[in-house]
Parts: sequence; structure tokens; C-alpha cells
Amino acid sequence: MTTSTQSNPIDIYIIGTGMVGYTQLTREAENALQASERVYLLDGQPMVENHIKETYTEDVVMLNREYNEGEDRVATYDRMSEEVLKGATEVDGPITFALYGHPMIFVNPSRSVIRQGREQGLNVEVQPGISAIDCVYSDIAFDPAANGVQMFEATDLLLREWELNPEVPAMIWQVSVVETDRHSEKKSKESRFTRFKEYLQNFYPEDHTGYLLQTATYPIAESQRHEFEISNLEQMAPILDKGYYILHLPPINERDLQNEELLQEVRSEDHLEEITVRDN
Ligand SMILES: C[S@@+](CC[C@H](N)C(=O)[O-])C[C@H]1O[C@@H](n2cnc3c(N)ncnc32)[C@H](O)[C@@H]1O
Repeated sequence: MTTSTQSNPIDIYIIGTGMVGYTQLTREAENALQASERVYLLDGQPMVENHIKETYTEDVVMLNREYNEGEDRVATYDRMSEEVLKGATEVDGPITFALYGHPMIFVNPSRSVIRQGREQGLNVEVQPGISAIDCVYSDIAFDPAANGVQMFEATDLLLREWELNPEVPAMIWQVSVVETDRHSEKKSKESRFTRFKEYLQNFYPEDHTGYLLQTATYPIAESQRHEFEISNLEQMAPILDKGYYILHLPPINERDLQNEELLQEVRSEDHLEEITVRDN
């Protein structure tokens, strides 16, 4: 947990609600909700809102209603964070700002609340939540420590022209909403994904397989996995329109060991003796 350094009572808890309804709320998130007079919620699932109202407080402010067609998301997020900060001055006890997934992963209003809240002398505590990426790792039994992982946001990948390493597994966020800062409920044209596809083709062969992964968000729902050749990415537009995905690009091959000398040392008892010392 990240806290401001003071030991004052908490003014604002920032928590993640996880991905699957309210079933992934951590014990510390439940404690935060229990302690709060009011909850600001940025989570599209009605079962989360209902659960908080039935279990913790009726005073739940839904922030999803702040989204407007065509509006710059920065303006929307500013309004959300202002509303949360105002709330902290309106009620007596602490408030909670609850966002789906992990509240620090690819999400902006929580960052503004931390920064501005602390500037205003408020005590803001941030707690981790279960992110889409955690669930995707479980869905496909993926170990990020085995061959590394490179992770980018789709639009940022194009804007900064990050170099992809095709020998390292890639996880790309927000492909469905690539190439805009604005909120929209409209369907994507296939051509929306052409530049993104061409960018990937700088690093991967045409027939490289990608997977659009959507982790389940309801207890009885199944996670989705859509396989495609990256040369056909544009044809995935109707699927991408159906919701949120993480694009998984497996490596083109497993990287060979480069340092044989070190490998011998890693396996040797003598080397362990050389690099360690007894504590007493
Ligand atoms: C604004 S970010 C929020 C991420 C969230 N804070 C988290 O920790 O998962 C939204 C992006 O998360 C990913 N995402 C959200 N829900 C998902 C799901 N059910 N399955 C896969 N990816 C998802 C998508 O890449 C989507 O564009």
C-alpha cells in the first residue's frame, strides 16, 4: 500500500475493485469501504454498485456517467478527480475512490486525486487491486518472469515509436481505442487498425499469430481468446468493438542463452561460494 507519510486519519482511500464483479475485492479494500462515508465508483458493473450499496454505504456516486461522446478523456478525468476531491470536503469521515482493476494501471483520475489531494493536505492511501493483466496471466498460464514481457499502450506505441523486441512476449493494452484521446461509443472502421498493423509488421512476420484476450468480468462468464494472423488485424474490428482486450503477441522464437560462461557459473557450487558470505 502507498500512503502519504503522515499518520493522520485517511481522507481518501483509492482502491481497485478487481475484474470479476466484486469477487476480487481484497480484504484491505473491504476495510476501506467499511470505513468510508461515501464511495466514488468508476466501474461499469451494476453488481459492484449494488454490492457496495447493500454492504457498505448507500452513498455511492457513479462516475461512469461523466463520459460524453467525442469528449477529450483528459477533460472527463479532470471532472472525475475534481468531484472526488470535493467529496472529501463534504463528508465527515473518509471517502473511497474505487476503480475497476488495479487503480494505478493505465488509469488517470486516480493519479490526479493523489497529486492534488496531497497538495491540498489530504491523506490519500492507495491500495493495489487485481488488474486485467493479472487475470490474463492466469487465463493463459503466462509467466512474465520466464522470458520477460514488454507492455505498451497501443496509441503510445505508435506515438513514441517504441521498438518492439520480437523475442520478448508482448502485451499491448487499449487496441480497441487506438488513435484517439476522445471517448466514443461509435464502431471502428477496419481502416482504424491499419497503421497499428503496419507498425507491428516492422517487427513481426506477416503470418505471426496474435491473440486478443478478454478476461471474464462476471463470475459465470468465460474468458475469451481470439487468434488471428497480424496481417488480418483490421478484420478483427468487429471483435475489438465488443469490449476491452489485451493483445498478446508471443515471441517469434525462444531466445538462446548468450552467455555460456555465466551458465557454467550459475550451476557451480564453487561460484556460489565465491559470490556469497556467511552472515555470522
Ligand atoms: C483504462 S485501462 C484500465 C485498466 C485497469 N485499471 C486494470 O488494472 O486492468 C483499460 C484497458 O484495460 C484492458 N482491459 C480492461 N478490461 C479488460 C478485460 N476484461 N480483459 C482484457 N483486458 C481488459 C484493455 O486493454 C483496456 O483498453
